Order: sequence, then C-alpha cells, then structure tokens
Amino acid sequence: MVGQPPNRELDSLMEKQAEDARNFKNKYAIEIADVKKSFDGKEFVLQGIDLKIPKGEITVIIGYSGTGKSVLLKHILGLLKPSSGSIKVLGEEIADKDVEELTKLRQNYGMLFQYAALFDDMTAVENVMFPLKEHRRDYSKAKMLEIARERLKDSGLDEKHFNKLPAEMSGGMRKRVGLARALALDPAILIYDEPTTGLDPVLTEMVDNLIVSTHNLKKGTTSIVVSHDLFAAFRIADHVAMLDSGKVLLFGTPDDFLKSDIDLVKRFVSKGVRRELQPKDGESQKDVSSRE
Ligand SMILES: Nc1ncnc2c1ncn2[C@@H]1O[C@H](COP(=O)(O)OP(=O)(O)O)[C@@H](O)[C@H]1O
Ligand SMILES: [Mg+2]
Repeated sequence: MVGQPPNRELDSLMEKQAEDARNFKNKYAIEIADVKKSFDGKEFVLQGIDLKIPKGEITVIIGYSGTGKSVLLKHILGLLKPSSGSIKVLGEEIADKDVEELTKLRQNYGMLFQYAALFDDMTAVENVMFPLKEHRRDYSKAKMLEIARERLKDSGLDEKHFNKLPAEMSGGMRKRVGLARALALDPAILIYDEPTTGLDPVLTEMVDNLIVSTHNLKKGTTSIVVSHDLFAAFRIADHVAMLDSGKVLLFGTPDDFLKSDIDLVKRFVSKGVRRELQPKDGESQKDVSSRE
C-alpha cells in the first residue's frame, strides 16, 4: 500500500473510515433509485434516475451537454438534494442527511474537476497538504508532509516540482497535483467531472491513463468519471452509463454500447467513432489506437 506501511496501527478514526469504505462488502458503492430533481418546481432536470454504480470498478457517465451529468454528480456528493428518490452511498441513505453528516460522507470522496483549481499561492506539496490540515487535525506536520509527498509520487509528479507554484508548472503537472490533492484523504470513491475537457490529445491520454493507474492503486476504490468523450469512456470504463434528458438511457459495458440498437446510442457511438477512430491521411490503424 502506498503511503502507509502495512503493519502500522491505524492511528486515526478517519483512516479507519477510509479502510472500512474500501472494504465495504456491498456490490454497489452507490445506489440511485428514481431520483428526480427540479430547481424551479416545474421542469425536471433529473427525471427518474436509476443507477447502481459497482464498487471497486470504473464507471463512466456520458451524454450530450446539458443532460444532467453534473447535476447527478452533485447529488452523489450530497451538494444537491433530490426533489424525490433515494441515493445510497456505501449503503447509507444520504438524501435526508444534515450538513454535519454530509461533511463526514464527503471524506469518502476525492474529486477532480475540469480545472484543477489549485491555490495559486501554495506550492504543489502545500496544495496537497491543504485537505489534511482541514480534516486530519490530529496529524503532525511531518506526517502531513509525508502523506502529501506520497500522493504526489502516486500521481506521477517528479520530486523536483514538489515545491513549485502552479504558475511555474505545465498543465499536465497541475493535473497531477490536482489529482494528488483529491487523493490526500485516501478516499474510497474518486469522482472526475470532465477531467479532459479542453485538453490537447497528449494530455487527454495522460489524464485517462492517470485515472486508470490511480484507480488501481488501492483495491476496492470506486471511480466515477463524467465525460462527453465516448472514446475515453471506451478506453477506461468497466461500465458506461449514458444519460439523456435526465434519465439513464443505457447502462452497460463498452461492448453493450457498440451493440446497442437504441437510436441515440447508435448516433453517439458513431459520432464518437467517426471523430476519434477514423485513420487520418497517412496514419495506420495502429497510430489511431495510440492517438487521442
Ligand atoms: N443550480 C441550477 N439551477 C437551475 N438549473 C440548473 C442548475 N444546475 C444545472 N441546471 C440545469 O440543469 C441542466 C443539466 O445541467 P448539467 O447537469 O450541468 O449538464 P451536463 O450534462 O452538461 O453536466 C441544464 O439545463 C442546466 O441549465
Ligand atoms: Mg457537466
């Protein structure tokens, strides 16, 4: 295990929470049943979402822009309350939890958004220490520093950049720092909202690979990635859920998507394939598979 010698006693209740969450025995990390959400009481953004997210695997949520992907994530994070329906995280109903309980719940999550949103006046290592200072007040400074350095290494940042400010780093390095910060509290569930939107193909591939390698760092980690990029979904997903108009249109393996008879899925797939998989002039199919 990274960051923690295996036989050191768990010296914090919160470390135990992280362990328990990863060892949670249910097949699903998150169970969403008939969740509806209206902001104005008239139009429903979520129109009855049913979705079970398998524990320990990577699920990618895809769909056109404006179909409710981010709104759904905010419900999973407990940042929005459903108008009706049930959301269970690691077996616990969260729809009716109060602020204090939700704060505790959120320690199960690590989040990486489109813009890593680092603190500009903090170095890489200070950025990663930030959540530890907030939530692990029983830790010594030395321990926080040790954890932060481990997480940065896990995210593939070279040690020589640890004391740099965001402005002194490339986009790729900043993503790694953002990921390291998401990992700071040793979360059982990793959530990414459009992590590669706006990135060039090389950086997109780096981040996709990073999502997979981070997922594999610790057994039992559940990863949820929201993307409008079907090609990425096919590369990294164990399961794909496609949202359309506030409902789950299809949940299945990437293969299920390729074989689907649903019109909109077929269109989304062919669009993704046309855009991403057709060889360009002078490029072989092998170049295509390593592209992106
Ligand atoms: N806080 C809010 N208040 C009102 N409408 C919202 C709010 N957040 C999102 N919406 C609406 O919900 C719909 C889905 O948004 P969103 O989940 O962000 O889409 P996407 O699938 O692109 O992530 C959009 O029409 C958006 O305008
Ligand atoms: Mg969104």
